[in-house]
Amino acid sequence: MYNIAIDGPAGAGKSTIAKQIAKRKGYIYVDTGAMYRAMALFLIDNHISPEESEKISRKCLEADISIVYENGEQVVLLNGRNVNGLIRTEQVGSMASASSVNGDVRKKLVELQQKLAKEADVVMDGRDIGTCVLPDADLKIYLTASSDVRAKRRYDELIARGEECDIGVIKRDIEERDYRDMHRDISPLKQAEDARLVDSSDMTIEEVIEKIMGMCV
Ligand code: DC
Repeated sequence: MYNIAIDGPAGAGKSTIAKQIAKRKGYIYVDTGAMYRAMALFLIDNHISPEESEKISRKCLEADISIVYENGEQVVLLNGRNVNGLIRTEQVGSMASASSVNGDVRKKLVELQQKLAKEADVVMDGRDIGTCVLPDADLKIYLTASSDVRAKRRYDELIARGEECDIGVIKRDIEERDYRDMHRDISPLKQAEDARLVDSSDMTIEEVIEKIMGMCV
């Protein structure tokens, strides 16, 4: 199997890039953030708050999270229900960042991710893919961009969708999320020693894709 790991902070463009690479290579795209988001949704639905770590450890065992593919799109099933339409909110994203510090949550989802990578050629994106989930990945990319650029991209996306937002607030949220993801005890976000650094601050999506495609053997 050929496994490509793409890690990096929120808003660096990982999912857009990983999806395109997977499409061009004919590999399966695995969005691990969506799994943490589905778990977060399950915890929110069960009225558990981010501070209740013991409850999270117990309750996460009841969440059956799996992945299927429909028309090439990854669909996350939470206890058999398609939750793709429910996990892209700021509330779920922030709960995912908070609950993903829990070792029991991580253990459960990492096992699922490793199983997927064993069964197929994958492009997997997340925070700890190169460092922890797939330490022997054939290609590891650490994709980043400055927090100003990431905030501006997110701002443009929301404005295009007709949503009201404040770029200062978005930047602060991004920096808070970075801090939490980079400073947690278990599998913090960091560049693996053997990962190639790609800073997309001054690059177009197509330039980033071309660069990474050129690194695949
Ligand atoms: O990539 P995303 O925004 O969908 O991820 C949501 C949160 O899930 C992120 O803030 C941290 C967590 N996460 C993680 O801890 N490990 C991963 N491999 C992927 C996501």
